[in-house]
Amino acid sequence: MRSVITGSGIGIPKNVVKNEILGRIMDTSDEWIRTRSGIEQRHYADPGQGSAELGIEAAQSALRAASREVKDIDAIVFATMTPNHFFPGNGPLVQARMGFDEATPTFDIRQQCSGFLYGLDLADSLIRSGKHRRILLIGADVHTPFMPWQNGWDITIGREDRQVTPEEYAENTKYRDRIVLFGDGGGAVVVEASDDEERGLLASKLFTNGSNIESLYVAGVGFRHRPYVTKQQIDNGDPVPTMEGREVFKQAVSKMPEAVRAVCKTAGVEVSDIDVLLIHQANLRIIEGVAKQLGLPAEKVPHNIERYGNTTAGTLPILFHECVTNGRIKPGMLVGFTALGSGLHWGAALYRA
Ligand code: UT7
Repeated sequence: MRSVITGSGIGIPKNVVKNEILGRIMDTSDEWIRTRSGIEQRHYADPGQGSAELGIEAAQSALRAASREVKDIDAIVFATMTPNHFFPGNGPLVQARMGFDEATPTFDIRQQCSGFLYGLDLADSLIRSGKHRRILLIGADVHTPFMPWQNGWDITIGREDRQVTPEEYAENTKYRDRIVLFGDGGGAVVVEASDDEERGLLASKLFTNGSNIESLYVAGVGFRHRPYVTKQQIDNGDPVPTMEGREVFKQAVSKMPEAVRAVCKTAGVEVSDIDVLLIHQANLRIIEGVAKQLGLPAEKVPHNIERYGNTTAGTLPILFHECVTNGRIKPGMLVGFTALGSGLHWGAALYRA
């Protein structure tokens, strides 16, 4: 039995935020952002629009694409590091709002940038175990709530037209290396059991190394503190993720190629057999570096980071959906997925479309 993706969809907020707009509220420039990351714009959610709302939008269109209804789905997996609430996760929100019955269990997983890969592996395991036949898998994140947006949020999404104060500009600039990279968005796929051995997920390899979580994490709020969030933490900027950019970059360009080689070995194929490799969209320079290490030509490595920035658990399902709808992924093609992010978690999967 194999796990086959029968439909996909995306949920993207309507607000397009170009690099130039960020340059109005902090010391950055379109030129810096483009040359260092390849990003030209990202989408920001509206106030009140969380990862659950984006995930539901993506899920609805994935169901339509798969010609499935809510009653056909046996279980839901939602990957996000930015759920609407600290608890419960987004799963129950999807269950209730989309009208799934109570016998549809929901799994909430995190795994940050590798969330979709981990979710795919989990969905495949649930299907192969015979426990569930059809799974709705969602990956969505909203990063804007992390940032100190009292200093210009309304300007970025066109709700206000003013100059930030010098103090606000200086405060935003403290976080510029992170703010410019991230965007809000989500994607979803329907994964189904199939007896067609020619198609579906061929193999997946997951890795975790928690020896340096500080390279990308949220230091300040959490249940080691009593209470878990204080005004002082907020004033210190502790709820904003911290990132050792160069270290994460180094890990990304070495670990993702290793994972792709490992999954190819498991599946008994060559790296050069891959028709399309979908790489987590964190930085165009990382994407190009991974492709180079693997000897894959640019035409086999599509990207959309220029339009969305890094949407964490959203990048792979959004890219997959776009490649299916624009014909870049065709039936029979060998598709690779790879990601690395906070944890560190990373991995790769191979899929026959
Ligand atoms: O999903 C996984 C999560 N994250 C990643 O994969 C991110 C991996 N890392 C990266 O993508 C890159 O390291 C960054 C894009 C974050 C940074 O690029 P970099 O080439 O490593 O730059 P840098 O951190 O070494 O900074 C170079 C300079 C610094 O100025 P000085 O010290 O040389 O004067 C920074 O202060 O660029 C400055 N800088 C900026 N300048 C304008 C940092 N951010 C900005 C900015 N605008 N937004």
